[in-house]
Order: sequence, then structure tokens, then C-alpha cells
Amino acid sequence: LKHFLTIEGLNRGLLTEILDYAEGFLGVARQAVKKVPLCRGRVVANLFFENSTRTRTTFELAAKRLSADVLNLNISTSATAKGETLLDTLRNLEAMQVDMFVVRHAQSGAAHFIAAHAAPHVSVINAGDGRHAHPTQAMLDMFTIRRHKGDFSRLRVAIVGDILHSRVARSQMLALKALGVPDVRVIAPRTLMPAQVEEAFGVSAYHDLREGVRDADVVIMLRIQHERMNSALLPSEHEYFQLFGLTEKRLATARPDAIVMHPGPINRGVEMDSQVADGPRSVILEQVSNGIAVRMAVMSMCLGAQNLHTQGQGEFNG
Ligand code: CP
Repeated sequence: LKHFLTIEGLNRGLLTEILDYAEGFLGVARQAVKKVPLCRGRVVANLFFENSTRTRTTFELAAKRLSADVLNLNISTSATAKGETLLDTLRNLEAMQVDMFVVRHAQSGAAHFIAAHAAPHVSVINAGDGRHAHPTQAMLDMFTIRRHKGDFSRLRVAIVGDILHSRVARSQMLALKALGVPDVRVIAPRTLMPAQVEEAFGVSAYHDLREGVRDADVVIMLRIQHERMNSALLPSEHEYFQLFGLTEKRLATARPDAIVMHPGPINRGVEMDSQVADGPRSVILEQVSNGIAVRMAVMSMCLGAQNLHTQGQGEFNG
């Protein structure tokens, strides 16, 4: 694995390998063990051209727990604001011996562009590009589902919200199908559902929340992506909540042991109410914690450090 840009084209074997490898990092992620030396001497640059709380900080923690050096470029105060091109910024960071760029950008395809222009030894991880892909989010979600449900082969997973603009939904649909989930449902107002989503992703589309989550094992709620849409597409927040907001009552059609997920940030009272977000079936904060282990796995695989692990440099669960 050189770059990690999208789930598209990745097979079940590789996705399972990433999930299995991430299990070995849970102890470090939860600080039972402080650090592992797998990426000592390597330099990781976080390039976030779009806002982030969870992804940027968990990539930083993951890199530090792998003993890498981390550069967090503050784009708003960097020379980008003086007109320096993206490629010139990359060249300058490469001159500082950077080994990996972790990239978030509002333009779909930005991470692929950077991977195509980076120096040959440099790895690129996509931390979210426009409406296109957020592959490490999908992997930490798969990791969380597997820890609760064990086996993907009998699951019914419902993804609810702004499917049209969501890079998370795209990556999740691809990952769920690749891992063999037989029943993946997407639930959205007609204006927020991509055309031909069923044919493109092998999922079932619903426009009624109760029907869509009926007998679901996993319910994934998504944020309305105001920043990527023409607001004429959207009903008012109040109207949206009335029809698509998850409440305990609406969750009642899901299986009694269903888990509720959300990649964050949550708009409370819009896509879900606080009783559900903070309730016993919510695994939302666990998703965030698992993100550290999953990102450690992806980063060390891309940096070729996985071999050190398999050659016996240690079991990292403490
Ligand atoms: N899930 C996610 O991408 O959150 P952030 O925007 O906070 O990184």
C-alpha cells in the first residue's frame, strides 16, 4: 500500500488486513502502551485545507504514537495565503524530507492530484476530498461495526441523511459492499439522494426513515453538508428533523441491539436528537477513539513499516 486515496477498487482481503492490523494498535490508541517505534525518523505533514476536529487530531495522535515527527501546516497562516501554489508548497515540504502528506481539501480529486505530483518516496493519505471520498473514516466505521457485530455477512446497515453530498457515505457504501454486507440501505429526501445510487453502489434507496431503518443492525446518521449544496435543495432544519431526524421512537423499528453511528460533527436536533446521540446504543465516541488505531494501521502500511511489526517488533496491546 503506497497511498490511501479511496476505497474504490480495494478488495475484501486488503480491507480485512487493515482492520486486523488496526486491532493490534488498540492498546497504543488507548494508551495502555505509550508509543511504538514503527515510524521513528519518518515525517508526516498534515495539510488540511478544510476544517476538521476529529480527523486532523487523530491523524496527529496516530503519527505521534507511531513515533513519527508531525508537521501541522496551518493553511490560513501559511504562504498559501500569499499566493504560493499547492505544488510549490509540496516541493518545499518535500525539501524538509517529508515522507507522507495527509490531505483534506474541498476539491474532489485533490488527494489524487497531490499523489500524482508528489516525489516518488512520498505517500499520500486522503483525509477527505470534496464530495468524493473519506476512506479512513469508512475504515474506522467498518472497524467499529466489526467490533460490535463480528461478522459482516448477515448485516443490514442503514445510512441516513445527505447521501448526495457525503464523501463519507460514498466511502462507506464501497467498504460495506466490498466486505460482503448483503443489505445496505441509503435513506434521504429525494433532493439529497444521488441519481442511480442503487445501480452504482448495489444499495437500496429509501425516502422514509422508519421503513429504511426497519430491522437494521447498524444505523449511520450523516450531517447535512450545507457547505457543498445549493440551499434551495434543503427543507428547513425543523422540517428535516420532522421527517429524517433520528429519535428513540423512530429508532424503534431497528433491531433492539442496533448500534447508532455518526462520523461527526453532529447537528443536534437536525439529524438526531441528543437522547439518541448520547444514549446507550450510540457508539459515536467509540468511532473517534477507534480512528486512532485505524489511522495508525493505514499510516504504517503506507510507510512500509508494517513489515517491522510482522518481523516481531512487538505486540502493541500492552
Ligand atoms: N468525521 C470527520 O471527518 O470529522 P472532522 O471534520 O472533524 O474531521
